[in-house]
Amino acid sequence: MTKRIALYFGTDTGRTRRIAKLIAQKLGDRALAPANIGRTSVEDFLAHDTLILGTPTYGEGALPGLSTGLAQESWEEFLPRLQGRDMRGKTVALFGLGDQDKYANEFVDAMLLIHDAVVDCGARVIGTWPAGGYSFKASQALIGNHFVGLALDQINQATLSESRIDAWLAQLAGELG
Ligand SMILES: Cc1cc2nc3c(=O)[nH]c(=O)nc-3n(C[C@H](O)[C@H](O)[C@H](O)COP(=O)(O)O)c2cc1C
Repeated sequence: MTKRIALYFGTDTGRTRRIAKLIAQKLGDRALAPANIGRTSVEDFLAHDTLILGTPTYGEGALPGLSTGLAQESWEEFLPRLQGRDMRGKTVALFGLGDQDKYANEFVDAMLLIHDAVVDCGARVIGTWPAGGYSFKASQALIGNHFVGLALDQINQATLSESRIDAWLAQLAGELG
């Protein structure tokens, strides 16, 4: 039996948790229940071979965490604990929430910080996503004309999210083989 996909999210106002739950629902028994990264140990995280990781961007292009005003730990505190750990052989897909209108120069930037942290640990990242169809000025999360993961904007383009998720999950299924 193939092992199930683990889903971890950071959130302040709950949007990224709701999207993680929607993704889990769509994956059915292929996925585990989504968990808040702020309440996750590195050991639990590393127990999985395939992970979907979601984050909002806070501050100006920063990870969610205590320094961006969250009441609890999140990706900002978790990623340093991951440093130096071995993720070779693991596959990661990323999704990020942001606001392309108000934060047009830092749209979904935080995805890159998670991307770089897991790549440094040896993980393979799949699920890059074309930047067409969004309206922003700059994003650190772009490599060429693709985001390092699925970009979602629940403030300005909420009605597009579900079809984006469906297309992205179909793409992931193909990339996972
Ligand atoms: C103080 C503040 C700073 C933000 N900074 C950014 C940013 O730099 N880039 C971006 O794309 N979105 C930014 N956002 C938008 C959030 O990422 C967006 O509202 C997201 O949906 C929040 O997700 P959550 O409900 O899971 O916390 C910011 C929002 C707030 C309130």
